[in-house]
Amino acid sequence: MEIKSYKIDTLGSAMNSITQHLTGLIKTKEAAHLLGVTVQTIKNYIYLGKLKSYKTPGGHHRVLVSDLQELAPIQSIPSREELLEQYDHLYQSYLDTIGALLNALDARDGIASGHSRRVANYACAMGNVLGFPPNSQRTLELAALLHDVGKIMIGEQILGKPGKLTDQETYIIRQHPEMGERIVGEVDFLRDTKPFIRHHHERFDGKGYPDNLSGEGIPLEARIIFIAEAFDSLRSDSSYHRSLNFKEALSEIEQGAGTQFDPQILKIFIENVKKGSMNEMGLSGGSVSFNNGQRAHVV
Ligand SMILES: [Fe+2]
Repeated sequence: MEIKSYKIDTLGSAMNSITQHLTGLIKTKEAAHLLGVTVQTIKNYIYLGKLKSYKTPGGHHRVLVSDLQELAPIQSIPSREELLEQYDHLYQSYLDTIGALLNALDARDGIASGHSRRVANYACAMGNVLGFPPNSQRTLELAALLHDVGKIMIGEQILGKPGKLTDQETYIIRQHPEMGERIVGEVDFLRDTKPFIRHHHERFDGKGYPDNLSGEGIPLEARIIFIAEAFDSLRSDSSYHRSLNFKEALSEIEQGAGTQFDPQILKIFIENVKKGSMNEMGLSGGSVSFNNGQRAHVV
């Protein structure tokens, strides 16, 4: 099956459609398209009991592709391999688009370009070490890439301000996890990243924000992203500080064990960074892997 090129604004629905095909459930509109009949005909099939319908939490009908196949031989349903190929292609397009936007965002934040991508690299490498299944790994990658997307709503005069921030400016900056959560909540494909973006500044001791969650009450993905973000920020020049060298950054981050950061996750992070199996990636981006040979996709 030929891979189509989708416009950005239709990428989301295309991704959702492919995901639905892979789970075997599709929308009535797509079922109608596959059978070459109208949506009303599909609805009539459902009402007459010719087709079993499954309902989403929002009350929308979904039908099984295999049921459609029994109803009429469908030549045009792509194979699982073709769907996976399309899914991969669309996923990469998504990452490219998100990556381009985030580079612009990093620049506004006054830190070295590629921060979001490097945080995603670290997070993915951690996901590999911790044995995350592919779906969770993908969500972790997206959440890490987009962790600071809420800063898009904050003015450059605050984001790029050299030196100390006032209390009010600090208050505004601290809104970015919630703003980020709201932004990704608008996109179906990104919805699973919401809690990880919302909680990526929660501290292990409960003194973080926005909800003062503590310990394992903080989603694991958010605890990982917090460490990755902190480490990369220490390694990068920013409006607030000069960049630390590798050793300095490690010793600085170690100070936060048990207070800012989950001590166990931090230990694993530091062990792997020290081993060099999670390479430093310099500031050039690219893929990174820990020991198991799986590679983290990056933009
Ligand atoms: Fe952040």
